[in-house]
Amino acid sequence: MAEKTLRIIKIFDTTLRDGEQSPGCSMNLSEKIKVAKKLEKLGADIIEAGFPVSSPGDLESVKAISAVIKNSAVAGLCRCLEKDIDAGREALIKAASPRIHIFLATSPVHMKYKLKMNESQVLEHAAAGVKYAKKFCNDVEFSAEDAFRSDPGFVCKVFGAAIKAGALTVNFPDTVGYAMPDEFAKRIRYVKEHTAGIDRACLSVHCHNDLGLAVANSIAAITSGADQVECTINGIGERAGNASLEELVMSLKVRRDYFGMDTRIDTAQIYSLSRLVTQVTGVKVQPNKAIVGDNAFAHEAGVHQHGVLANRETYEIMTPESIGMPKSTIVLGKHSGRHAFEQRLNELNISLNSDAFDKVFEGFKNLADKKKTVTDRDIEALVMDNITSVPETWKLDQWAVNTGSALGASGVIRLQHRDGVFEKFVAMGDGPLDSIFKAINKIIGKEPELELYELGAITGGSSSQGETMVKISMNGRRWNGRGVSTDVIESSIKAYLSAVNAMMYEMNAQENTSERLE
Ligand code: KIV
Ligand code: ZN
Repeated sequence: MAEKTLRIIKIFDTTLRDGEQSPGCSMNLSEKIKVAKKLEKLGADIIEAGFPVSSPGDLESVKAISAVIKNSAVAGLCRCLEKDIDAGREALIKAASPRIHIFLATSPVHMKYKLKMNESQVLEHAAAGVKYAKKFCNDVEFSAEDAFRSDPGFVCKVFGAAIKAGALTVNFPDTVGYAMPDEFAKRIRYVKEHTAGIDRACLSVHCHNDLGLAVANSIAAITSGADQVECTINGIGERAGNASLEELVMSLKVRRDYFGMDTRIDTAQIYSLSRLVTQVTGVKVQPNKAIVGDNAFAHEAGVHQHGVLANRETYEIMTPESIGMPKSTIVLGKHSGRHAFEQRLNELNISLNSDAFDKVFEGFKNLADKKKTVTDRDIEALVMDNITSVPETWKLDQWAVNTGSALGASGVIRLQHRDGVFEKFVAMGDGPLDSIFKAINKIIGKEPELELYELGAITGGSSSQGETMVKISMNGRRWNGRGVSTDVIESSIKAYLSAVNAMMYEMNAQENTSERLE
């Protein structure tokens, strides 16, 4: 019997826009490019790369992502304003498939207090914005911000006007995560039945997770006829986040029998992408997070373990391999050679050029001398640690701290500048890290604020590597840093320095741009 054709749902990923704009999730340019390339490999239909007018950094990153992504459409978010659309156009100029994504709020509270516009003004603006964007870009998406709390008839009118003006996609967001699944499904049916021209447009939804229902609402919407879902890796995003891509995609895949739908996503890329987003944002997923949490495939209770050993299907509805979670086939230790290490990297979906491979392999050998077995998490950490995403303005050479209960702490550090010069400084502080960070600040001549400091162990056991995440800020800008070492002070220094290097890189780039403009 011929197989029933599956309805394909488009995946619009907004990790780099809605995800990145949420607290603590900022990424630097090279991290964004890495995530975008991985999203392309994953098979995302559309990658929303940023909000170009919001900052020069966002404009640059949308530009850079547009230049490298060939197999996914690249979207730039714009308010319904000509200056925003102009920035979007500039940012997307090199994109193989550019999409301008315009939004304008339609709910009474947003129109009255934020936009200070009435319904007819919003209607007019929406159509004018789409018309303006259409001059530069065929693929225009229009979003009615806070659509769920808007008058349904009014949203249909605005969507109708946007489609008439040329929008190929209309997006219905539950901006504040207020909807219930049944209610949302009904609303999407209403929109499908009452919007002029909807048959020639793609209907999208964008759900936030304030009540923990973003995925349920997105699924309810696609069963009511929505063609596209907007989502993020690990569900990161404003406040409680957006619908999680991995949960949506795996629901459709695992319950294909029920939905009769699928996506173009290569689910075997999910795990490594989730890990990459965790690494670059420093925002960890909870252990019991569906699909990608540490415990998602762990079986603790004896009765469960017994069942899984007899047949995995007793307690597993999908396999770890289906999301690309590596199955350990070899244990790596100090006797493992390049070949075994390379094989493990392949199993982890990590590809490195030969220089990077040599660097990471050397790090692995050093680590294996200190630790009996080197785990997958250790390898991921080594890769992140050795493959610096920005050039190192300052490199750690040597350090020492002296600390005790009564006399405070002193730290001495020697850094090497990329010009080759060594600089050394000694400082006193309230603890070993305070003293050493102060010494670094003296050398670099800047005093960034330490906003977040988090120390964890990569695996259990006293020989585990310490992993430190820091966030520093200056003049309203934030930078993340990460460091690993079997010594927790060294991992903290590396994390602080990597954030400092990200900051120096951005500041140097800005100085160069303004010099060019002068
Ligand atoms: O949540 C929202 O409404 C948005 C729009 C800009 C699509 O993020
Ligand atoms: Zn949103």
